[in-house]
Amino acid sequence: MYSKKVMDHFLNPRNKGKLEDADAVGKVGNPVCGDVMYIYIKVKDGKIEKIGWETMGCAAAIATSSMISELAKGKTLEEAMKISKKDIAEALEGLPPIKMHCSNLAAEGLHNAIENYLNREKIIKELEEVVDRKDAEALFRIGITGIEDLKKASMEEIANAVSDKGMERIKNFLKK
Ligand code: FES
Repeated sequence: MYSKKVMDHFLNPRNKGKLEDADAVGKVGNPVCGDVMYIYIKVKDGKIEKIGWETMGCAAAIATSSMISELAKGKTLEEAMKISKKDIAEALEGLPPIKMHCSNLAAEGLHNAIENYLNREKIIKELEEVVDRKDAEALFRIGITGIEDLKKASMEEIANAVSDKGMERIKNFLKK
C-alpha cells in the first residue's frame, strides 16, 4: 500500500522530536481520526534553521512529518510557506488516496508554525490579558495561539506548561 519512500521515512523518521529551543510551534489535529501533530521551528536570519516534530498518528502522518522537515530545513519562511501537501506527496513518491487527509496535517502544521512565529508578539499580548508575560510565553510554546484557542486546549497540557498562579488565573478566566 505504501511506497518505498513512505516506508523509509516511517521506519527512519528524520528530525523527529520536540525542539526545546523552538521559536514557534504549529499544532494541528486531524478531524477525521483525532490524531495530533506538532511542528517546531527555530528561525535564524529569516530561514528555518532547525525543525522538529511530534506526531501521534498513522504511518502516512509520520512519513509526511519526516518529509516536510527535510523539505523545510534551510528554506526561507517564504519558501517554506509555499510547500504544499502535493509537494510532500510527490517527494514521498505518492500516498494512497485514502491517506491524503493524514498528509494534509504536515503542510498545515508547518504553515501554522510559521504564522505563529510571525504573529508571536500579537499572540503573547492577547494571552497576557489572562496570565503574566512568562506564562503567556509558556502557552505560546505549547502552540496556544490566542484566547479562543486557550478555551479549547487541554487543561492537562496547560497545567504542565504554566505556573500555579497562571493556572489559577486561567481557571478563573474560563469560569466567567
Ligand atoms: S489515521 Fe490519523 S493521521 Fe492518519
